[in-house]
Amino acid sequence: MCGIVGYIGREQAAPILLEGLSRLEYRGYDSAGVAVFDAQAGALAVRKAKGRLQVLSDQLHGGADLDSTVGVGHTRWATHGAPSDINSHPQVSRSGKIAVVHNGIIENYAELKGFLQSKGVPFVSETDTEVVAQLIEYFYDGDLLAAVGRVLRRIQGAYALGILCADCPDQIVAVRKDSPLILGYGEGCNFITSDVTAILRHTRSVGYMEDGELAVLTREGIRCCNHLMQPIEKEIVTVDWEMDAAEKGGYEHFMFKEIMEQPEALRRCLSPRIREGEIVFEDFSLDQDYIKNMRRIYIVACGSSYHVGMVGKYHLERLTRIPVEVALGSEFRYMDPIVDDHTLVIVISQSGETLDTMAALREARRLGGHILSIVNVVGSSIARESDQVLYTWAGPEIAVATTKAYTTQLALLSLLALWLAKRLGTVPEEDFRSMLAAFQELPDKMEEVLSRREDIQYFASRYFNHDSIFFMGRNIDYALGLEGSLKLKEISYIHSEAYASGELKHGTISLIEDGTLVVALSTYSGLFAKAMSNVVEVKARGGSVLALTVEPRKAEMAQTADGVMTIPDIHNLLLPCLGVVPLQLFAYYVALMRGCDIDKPRNLAKSVTVE
Ligand code: AGP
Repeated sequence: MCGIVGYIGREQAAPILLEGLSRLEYRGYDSAGVAVFDAQAGALAVRKAKGRLQVLSDQLHGGADLDSTVGVGHTRWATHGAPSDINSHPQVSRSGKIAVVHNGIIENYAELKGFLQSKGVPFVSETDTEVVAQLIEYFYDGDLLAAVGRVLRRIQGAYALGILCADCPDQIVAVRKDSPLILGYGEGCNFITSDVTAILRHTRSVGYMEDGELAVLTREGIRCCNHLMQPIEKEIVTVDWEMDAAEKGGYEHFMFKEIMEQPEALRRCLSPRIREGEIVFEDFSLDQDYIKNMRRIYIVACGSSYHVGMVGKYHLERLTRIPVEVALGSEFRYMDPIVDDHTLVIVISQSGETLDTMAALREARRLGGHILSIVNVVGSSIARESDQVLYTWAGPEIAVATTKAYTTQLALLSLLALWLAKRLGTVPEEDFRSMLAAFQELPDKMEEVLSRREDIQYFASRYFNHDSIFFMGRNIDYALGLEGSLKLKEISYIHSEAYASGELKHGTISLIEDGTLVVALSTYSGLFAKAMSNVVEVKARGGSVLALTVEPRKAEMAQTADGVMTIPDIHNLLLPCLGVVPLQLFAYYVALMRGCDIDKPRNLAKSVTVE
């Protein structure tokens, strides 16, 4: 997804911009560019290149070719117009006086483009962003802020903008609406960025721009104003993420590093919330009357976060006896959802910036729901627009394929289910105690799973050259299969689907032939016998079965399955948290053996901020 970095200071800007952009590569992009003010020429210098950032960096000799102390940079993930040099950002106005970097989408760009073309303004790119640059120049009469203000009143959609003007060489203008933009406060220098990782090397003092806000950055400071152009004071907060946490730390891939970090991430997420035999949510509370009168719970999310919701539905309904609906963020606002002020809407997102999830949140709020979000990125848009937030505290997740965010989301949602059950009086005290004890055992048991990763590597070496792999399971194992299948397909490009085992005979079984690999998930002991019957059905049709079950069931499963992966036994509530780890490792090793670009799978972005 697109990334923005802007710098104004006393050092050479281009190397700082390129280095900052390199920190954003993990977000996924297809081209990159920078614009700086070239003092000698008295004009903006813009350089862009399709492909990896390295291509641009090589063209600019690491930035040495551009002599300037102010500039903006961008990594683009194409929405309007194919990836190309021309469509890359910064986009410039016809005279070259205005340069703009943009994250988001200008929804009414076609209409505005038509208007400008009717006034004789020529366009060179297919992007919506060029409209912004051209429109600023169209309104510009020597007062940049006035021109930007007029543009903001006309554009619709989502945008984080970094704007340079050749007539104002000592400033950057920044604007935000529905797309994240962060201000970085340095010594004699200041920054903008769409992701704090890009500027952490330079400053930890940041301010989060709110929707409708505009900022003017100079070397001396940052002035902010609201949508009425009235000055506002921005709260400056200190980011305490370590730079190391955003680096690979010696591992070959971020994904593997993040898989291995899961026990630690779970400890960070759970330990402060389990104290003296109770669940303590210091960061959140719900009124007892509200809980008692809750009629429905909606879980809204996309991708893996949605899969967390699928597991959560089983847990929440079992523990609280409140009906739970799980909806895709992209579907929610189009399905006329039944939400009122007795509905708790749980919004799940690692990035906190997924546009479909955000749109669902807003729709749920409009309908009167109470919004509780489970988010990883502190200060992200979803976190800020929610009534309440539970942070997963998993630390920065860089690999496109989520791992530690998934397990921490799941653990936190499960803990929330137990907390609600306790408040509702729907869980016997003894069960509450044993479940709470399971949460405390979880990180150590996960370490045990990770320590046996060679077993999974062996199975990956046996099956990595399959063209198609199916996952099946029942109940929580079905929900787990959805995530296992997504993990595999997104990074290895192997076709994969997940089915509820009981559905096999309703159609899917026709796909099973000699050698077809089925990953049979059977961690849930209550349904072990049923799972075995499905394994037999697959075997009878010539399929190969790689099973996942708990250690006590290994021997029994091994009598029929071709291979058995295991996890230590744990309370049902936490089986999917442990069970997902062998599936993550399987996907990782398979992708590694197939030579795939694991951290940046093709066509994918870490944070999907367009519809
Ligand atoms: C999973 O590995 C994905 N990359 C993707 O499905 C992701 O979970 C989805 O885009 C939602 O992102 P979010 O949690 O940041 O909202």
